[in-house]
Amino acid sequence: MSGRIPREFIDELLARADIVDLIDARLPLTKAGRDFKACCPFHNEKTPSFTVSQTKQFYHCFGCGANGSAISFLMEFEHLSFREAIEELAQSTGLEIPDTGPARAEDTLTPALLDTLADANRFFKDQLRHHEMSAEAARYLKERGLSGEIAALFELGLAPPGAKLSQTARGENKTLDLMTKAGLVARDDNNRVYDRFRSRVIFPIHDYKGRVVAFGGRILGDGEPKYLNSPETPVFQKRSELYNLHRARSNIAQQGHSIVVEGYMDVVALAQHGIEHAVATLGTATTPRHLERLFRLAPSIIFCFDGDRAGRTAAWRALETALPELAGGRQISFLFLPDGDDPDSLVRREGGASFSALATKATSLPDFLFEKLSAETDMDRLDGRARLVELAKPLLAKIPEGPLRELMHQRLREETGVQSTEESRVPKRHRALSRRQVPTQRLSPMATAISLLLQQPALAAKYTLPENLDENSDEPGLSLLTRVHRIATEEASLTTGSLLERFRDTEESTTLEKLAGKDHLLDDKDFAPFFSETLLTLQEQALGKTINKLVARAGQEELDQASKERLAALYLDRQSLRQRREDHGK
Ligand code: UTP
Ligand code: MN
Repeated sequence: MSGRIPREFIDELLARADIVDLIDARLPLTKAGRDFKACCPFHNEKTPSFTVSQTKQFYHCFGCGANGSAISFLMEFEHLSFREAIEELAQSTGLEIPDTGPARAEDTLTPALLDTLADANRFFKDQLRHHEMSAEAARYLKERGLSGEIAALFELGLAPPGAKLSQTARGENKTLDLMTKAGLVARDDNNRVYDRFRSRVIFPIHDYKGRVVAFGGRILGDGEPKYLNSPETPVFQKRSELYNLHRARSNIAQQGHSIVVEGYMDVVALAQHGIEHAVATLGTATTPRHLERLFRLAPSIIFCFDGDRAGRTAAWRALETALPELAGGRQISFLFLPDGDDPDSLVRREGGASFSALATKATSLPDFLFEKLSAETDMDRLDGRARLVELAKPLLAKIPEGPLRELMHQRLREETGVQSTEESRVPKRHRALSRRQVPTQRLSPMATAISLLLQQPALAAKYTLPENLDENSDEPGLSLLTRVHRIATEEASLTTGSLLERFRDTEESTTLEKLAGKDHLLDDKDFAPFFSETLLTLQEQALGKTINKLVARAGQEELDQASKERLAALYLDRQSLRQRREDHGK
């Protein structure tokens, strides 16, 4: 395997492979206007909102927000890594991936680590059948209500006492080294190798492709620590993996929602009772990455927490993490279990049907948010209600612009009688633009410019960015706009898809994906005038900032002659700019 794939090659690959053919071969598309449509493969839907654009070489789902290039599609649809998707595309287009010299360490390490982990998984499973401790372990699992079938399905194993796993390496340093890197063995102070997992029931943790990437081990009976987990390794990051995701995927899509619980045992017990769409976080709080993965499968997530204080605190943390992810009709609910119960004990006592019935009655995120905040304030007092507004505002601000945020503001108004300032914040000029286009979510002029450029990269060659923009280089989004514009100018043939690829694995990729998928409700020919108008808005904003700075300075000190002249010139500039914009609008 070779090292990093050159950018030029990726451009070439995307130029050769047609995204419409590629997707159509896997998911039959129907023509809809200039674009192609299908029911989205990444979430459950009955009417097609998955759109593929040939000119943009880009797909986008208006339902769940999934979008990207041909590479992204292969990665998501066929569960391939970036490298594998490139290989697949290269094969189908007959291009050869250039040999780029020595491989990067992580590229070569990954397969070896996965092999080591798969070997260990076989070893643990084998021990559960054959080790002298296996009767004890089997008894323990049985006491916990698990059948042999379910234990086999979840590939439960046994880590025997002692250093049995590391002994299978037979002193081979290479194997021991891999076991160490995979988190299976460690060395003590005397540099002696020992097994991390000893005398424990083993729960293998799979990635979404079903490859074993880590283990959790539970002590048989009482003892500390109750669970021991693999450390983070190149193939295992707790913030992105979810226990049982690979098995639950199709069930989640089918059910239309996922269930998130806290423990391995909870997931296994639920499955034992016919609930197959539960996953567990791995001893960490829920992360945005977890949510993103689950929302790809279904638009709704039900979190299960203990009814006690710790459970409520954990739920609140999950809520705070989830707010920014709540776009495009996504829903989150919280199921608080009776005190002293966890999903495992509850489902064993009451059965799968009762658990499912409870889940349908889970508290919605909006209800949980307002209930929690109202409980913290005295709603009978005027200043209590004012406090509620103050507490709620920063939270609601985290929700992406859209119907949910508006409804939450409406609810806040109903609860408190206070008119929120949300609606009056949109700049006047932009409101005028919006009225004409009726977009679902309003973007700032900066975001609009980036979005238009992503959707029609050819605009870059037509319109240079206003020169005065760099004077305000701390402006959010400006450096991104500049970069997108530069890339699109340098290479005229880039499409939306290939432009986005340039930003894969960068901080900005999520923002750019959203902007690329934004529907401006414009005809193709209207992009150019709208883009140039947006640039004028940006230019005027920048001018305004410079003017304000000078005016503020003038308030504190006498301006020197040069500055005074500059200010006068700036005012004139602004006036002529406004004139141009007026003309433009006509
Ligand atoms: P719980 O203590 O709720 O475990 O921890 P549980 O699943 O109910 O355990 P049982 O029923 O007694 O077997 C929930 C999760 O937190 C992590 C594990 O991922 C566990 O599944 N955890 C817990 C640890 O990592 N270490 C621990 O010592 C305890
Ligand atoms: Mn438990």
